[in-house]
Amino acid sequence: MSERSVASYLSDPAFYADPYPLYRALRERDPVMFTDLRGGAWLFTSYEDVAAGLKHERLSNARAGGFLKALPPDTHAELQPLAETLSRWMLFYDPPNHTRLRKLMGHTFAQTSLDTLRPRVESAVHELLDAVEPAGHMDVLKDFAFQLPLLVIVDMLGVPRDKRDEFIVWSGDIGQLLGGATPTLEVARRAQRSVAAMTEYLRERAALRRRAPADDILTLLLQAEADGDKLTEDELYAQCVLFLFAGHETTRNLIGNGLYALLRHPEELEKLRRDPSLIKTAVEELLRYDSPVQMLSRVVTDDIEYKGRRIKKGQMAMLFMAAANRDPAEFPDPDRLDVARKASRHLSFAWGPHLCLGAGLARMEAQIAFSALLQRMPDLRLADEPPQFVMNLVLRGLQSLEVRF
Ligand code: HEM
Repeated sequence: MSERSVASYLSDPAFYADPYPLYRALRERDPVMFTDLRGGAWLFTSYEDVAAGLKHERLSNARAGGFLKALPPDTHAELQPLAETLSRWMLFYDPPNHTRLRKLMGHTFAQTSLDTLRPRVESAVHELLDAVEPAGHMDVLKDFAFQLPLLVIVDMLGVPRDKRDEFIVWSGDIGQLLGGATPTLEVARRAQRSVAAMTEYLRERAALRRRAPADDILTLLLQAEADGDKLTEDELYAQCVLFLFAGHETTRNLIGNGLYALLRHPEELEKLRRDPSLIKTAVEELLRYDSPVQMLSRVVTDDIEYKGRRIKKGQMAMLFMAAANRDPAEFPDPDRLDVARKASRHLSFAWGPHLCLGAGLARMEAQIAFSALLQRMPDLRLADEPPQFVMNLVLRGLQSLEVRF
């Protein structure tokens, strides 16, 4: 690693084409390192340290209003409703408030059996592939991976099909605010309008579900109760918006990054095609190999002594799960893709209190999606144009992925 500042590496498109050499260099130089990034931040890059960071009680996730910092102070009042909705997301709570919400939400997810969802996911996958099959080519992201997780979650929430397209636009707007680079005022305003529209719609549906309960998550959330505690209405709508956001870009990128990795490793793709029973290990390996969520930021709430370093209150910690997933101390020969590898200890769904609540669903969607793609498209191959990764430090994904079949 040269003396270039870490910030300068991270603004270079070459880093986004392949971030793994830099992660390796950082880990080998110092796995918990203070850098010039974002005015001074600790970078965690080894498996042991990232796992410890994800569970550390002084590393807080209370960052809901963070997007406001990038915008002029005189717009903060206008954007307060958006900041308030985000501040109710369980994702941005620390214990004990987080523990309370997590119990209520976890209870709801536990009642939503994956076996019941499986046929719905299968039919969404085949519906999308039916639509593109006659053309003989597609952009995997636009035509398939972008839509699948939304169809599934919109269906789980019990939103009728005629409202589906609007939901897709609304969640795209929220994704742009939180998933993209530094947000502009225009992006924040659009996200605020979309959150308001979505909440209003969910409010109407909730009124309906109170009168006529149905087999959907909204009904379960309305009934959710743990230790005599219930969700308030505002909390409920905020978690629904979170589901749409949390399960969308992430699952899209698991399918996009994963398929791109397989297409660049034809021997692994063939191995999976010949033995479809490898699909479970293959999805874990694809999550490890090119993680859709590369890193998570945390704020230090109190001074920490960690392995001889003084990490100070108010500083930032950036936990690079994607670097941890390539740590040779945990995964032998980590840069090799091996669809038969037992890689389920990867950190792509995080670890500790915020461990992804939708991991089971995301795994199932990806298993069904890859199986269907390989089965229905025996001649699947990359189109001529090499795909480009979006320049985003958190959510790693391709701009498009053109394939022929
Ligand atoms: C490949 C797909 C996915 C990946 C890689 C992923 C990754 C993650 C990660 C890394 C976190 C921790 C965030 C943090 O600690 O700051 C998380 C949390 C969460 N995820 Fe996922 N996720 C995926 C799919 C989904 C799906 C499909 C859903 C639901 C529909 C979902 C719902 C959630 C929720 C509700 C949380 C917050 C949990 C909490 O704060 O306790 N995720 N996810």
